[in-house]
Amino acid sequence: MSYGAVPQNNSPYGSSNPGYAESSTGFITPHAATKKKGLSPWIKFGVPVLLAVIIAAVVGGVLGTRKKGGDSSSSSGSGSSADKDASVDSKAPIATATDILAAGVFATATNSKYMIPLYPSATNTALFAAPTVDASSSKAWPKDSFAPANPSPTNVREDRPRLIAPQYKWDALPDLIRNDPYLRKWNDTIIQNATDYAALRPVEYFMDGDSGILDNAREVKMRIKAFGYAYHMTGNTKWGDRAWEELQNAISDSFGPTNNTKWNPGHFLDAAEFSAAFGIAYDWFYPLWTDDQKKTIRDGLIMYGLQHGVDVYAGGTTFGWWTDNITGNWNCVCNGGLTLGALAILGDDTTGVAASLLGSTIDNAKANCAQAVMDDGSWAESPNYWYFGTTGHAEMVSALITATGSDYGLMSTANTNYWRTGDFHMGVFGVTSLFDYGDHGPNKFSTTANSMILYGGLTNHPEFILHQRDRADAAEPWSMFWYDPAVTGAYWTNRKLDYFYDNPRVQWASMRGSWTDDDAVYLGIKAGQNLGHQTHNDLDVGTFVLDALGTRWAGELGSGDYRSPQYFNSQAQEAERWKYYRKATVGQNTLVVNNANQNVNSEPTVKHGSSDTTQGSSTVLTIPKDSTAFWVADISSAYFDASSVKRGARLLNGRRQVLIQDEITATQTVQWRMHTNATVTPEGTSATLKLDGQTLKVTMLDPPSGASFKTMDPVRLPGMPEPLIPDQENPGVTVLAVDLPAGTSTLRVLFNPQWEDMKDADYVTPPNVALDSWTLRSHD
Ligand SMILES: *[C@@H]1O[C@H](CO)[C@@H](O)[C@H](O)[C@H]1NC(C)=O
Ligand SMILES: *[C@@H]1O[C@H](CO)[C@@H](O)[C@H](O)[C@H]1NC(C)=O
Ligand SMILES: *[C@@H]1O[C@H](CO)[C@@H](O)[C@H](O)[C@H]1NC(C)=O
Ligand SMILES: *[C@@H]1O[C@H](CO)[C@@H](O)[C@H](O)[C@H]1NC(C)=O
Ligand SMILES: *[C@@H]1O[C@H](CO)[C@@H](O)[C@H](O)[C@H]1NC(C)=O
Repeated sequence: MSYGAVPQNNSPYGSSNPGYAESSTGFITPHAATKKKGLSPWIKFGVPVLLAVIIAAVVGGVLGTRKKGGDSSSSSGSGSSADKDASVDSKAPIATATDILAAGVFATATNSKYMIPLYPSATNTALFAAPTVDASSSKAWPKDSFAPANPSPTNVREDRPRLIAPQYKWDALPDLIRNDPYLRKWNDTIIQNATDYAALRPVEYFMDGDSGILDNAREVKMRIKAFGYAYHMTGNTKWGDRAWEELQNAISDSFGPTNNTKWNPGHFLDAAEFSAAFGIAYDWFYPLWTDDQKKTIRDGLIMYGLQHGVDVYAGGTTFGWWTDNITGNWNCVCNGGLTLGALAILGDDTTGVAASLLGSTIDNAKANCAQAVMDDGSWAESPNYWYFGTTGHAEMVSALITATGSDYGLMSTANTNYWRTGDFHMGVFGVTSLFDYGDHGPNKFSTTANSMILYGGLTNHPEFILHQRDRADAAEPWSMFWYDPAVTGAYWTNRKLDYFYDNPRVQWASMRGSWTDDDAVYLGIKAGQNLGHQTHNDLDVGTFVLDALGTRWAGELGSGDYRSPQYFNSQAQEAERWKYYRKATVGQNTLVVNNANQNVNSEPTVKHGSSDTTQGSSTVLTIPKDSTAFWVADISSAYFDASSVKRGARLLNGRRQVLIQDEITATQTVQWRMHTNATVTPEGTSATLKLDGQTLKVTMLDPPSGASFKTMDPVRLPGMPEPLIPDQENPGVTVLAVDLPAGTSTLRVLFNPQWEDMKDADYVTPPNVALDSWTLRSHD
């Protein structure tokens, strides 16, 4: 088989492909199978499947093996540590048809350490076309016959379901599932999940301090979605019975207070997520419910959820603050839940509550929720709160479109940059895991990144769909209706390696060595304003994360305990929040001046440059030696006791080394800090870090006199104010630190991942260039 026989512009996994039929689940790649990360049961199971594919693919044209490292001048891609024991790679020639299958289908090693897709290093040949949606494909969805010329939020389609999954989609699904391995895998997983949930007792009431009963609400919603899906796919009414059990439980006397505060409207997210769950249940099981059951669901939904929403919009409640200039997840989740609940009962509701809410929630979400996306795509809160916010927003958009024929501009006119949040998510998704600055939020349950799939389809950005479909959280009911099986190509094809997000509020950079090599370098680094993130920020100007060799060397500590006293009360300079280690500057990978927190009123400025290297259509990227990126921030405004502080970061040597340079003039002492899970051995002006069987060497260039690396525990420094309760532990974490005296210093820290195919002489020592003089070519 020549390249020509491979359907490059069509779906790489189409039914015309002989390889696919033999393996309905669980592709694992040769690359993944040879990684030194411990053989999982998944991989043991996967290898025979792979062999079946190779045999089935029987191809004449042998298309080369993965290039073994050892010669750093060869074009062996950005990271080759996986070649260390590349037994499969070097023995068995890999056919391109197989590569395409392996690379393009279920490249998800869900129990690998980082739960990320592992793409094979196949031949260095074009594998995938650019991302496109082929609307004429036989795999495309049929058109919706409900398309009102003048949509109105209270003019709903006649057939049910009306929320997210109209009947015409259910009718089309069985055929689409048969022809699309992603849909097939997701369908199997959802049915299995529904079966697992059905075996559990109904969700038990648990009031979790300030987080309320949000976990309860989201878990009920997750179950209802799965039961509803299983009911429609199998036609078995037992799923309705099980859903009914769950609904009855959540409005029973034994579930929380016996008055109208049962769903905890004081923490409105809880009432909103329950409203979404009840709305979905009402709508998706509509033909099954008796009139009595419908009345019971409606009455509960109104009393415990929607009526509180009406009260909020009427003003006068103490818990409606989220409607007022809250550009973040609260506004999206609350308006989304109320909207789903209202749309579900519209027409049957005789109280006017549903229609009244739809007159408020959409406009309010346009003014607030949709503004949580900055003009560069960044989510105002944090990379993890993006999940909650966009899930609420996407559910609302999708339900409005299916039920009434329009999203009323929630995705477009309300914020013309909204679509860019897909680029934000892809940028913040590092090589191993998220650049997860700020708070992480509570359990996800029914929250995923599948908004990417909806947004990609609605805004014609198929790369968002392609990125998300390979992720571990893709298998849940919304994907079945949001995914466009007519999508083709690969998300990395023609995609730049570097993205810079310059909105002053968030202000960060995403620089990497590859989109598909899980050994590649990823550097995420931020400046930004410390305020304006709905109290989910850390005092973290200058912080960074670093991936290389398949692991994370510099990482984030995550949320503090949300039940810590006054965690969310205030963002003033002396607020209790900033005394908790994980929120304080001392808990970040940045500079601490005078053992003190940063200024909450930081206003940094940034400049940056990139060789604009793009990845091609292969999973193997050949990085030119002069490919680079840099980012420099003046972060003086984040510090007291320092007249000037600048931090710069750049990728060196074909994106295989990293330099972080600080220029500081301070009247007090300074400490450089980095948090790592590695075992650290300081050796004067260098340090050796070991993690996951890999090594990173860190070296100071032109070290300031007397400076040396040391290790510290991840705890507050002497003299820092005590928080109200003791800090959480950070097990396994070590701080790599350097002390600098008051005065003017330049600290240049070079990070050299120990790549298998690079000898000492292959590493570069960059020239000493002041940050103000950094340019794209200043370090050649
Ligand atoms: C969906 O998954 C279930 C459970 O694995 C399976 O029985 C059913 O046939 C699948 N549906 C389709 C259309 O393949
Ligand atoms: C759904 O099922 C998959 C595969 O069986 C499993 O990995 C996943 O954890 C399940 N999800 C939930 C939320 O139970
Ligand atoms: C509702 O019940 C709870 C718990 O029993 C109680 O604390 C609260 O005061 C009641 N609220 C109203 C409005 O009656
Ligand atoms: C809304 O909040 C932002 C900061 O988050 C603030 O700058 C702005 O003034 C507020 N607008 C109103 C109308 O309160
Ligand atoms: C340490 O590893 C955990 C688990 O992978 C991760 O969540 C955390 O961010 C890591 N911490 C650091 C400092 O890298």
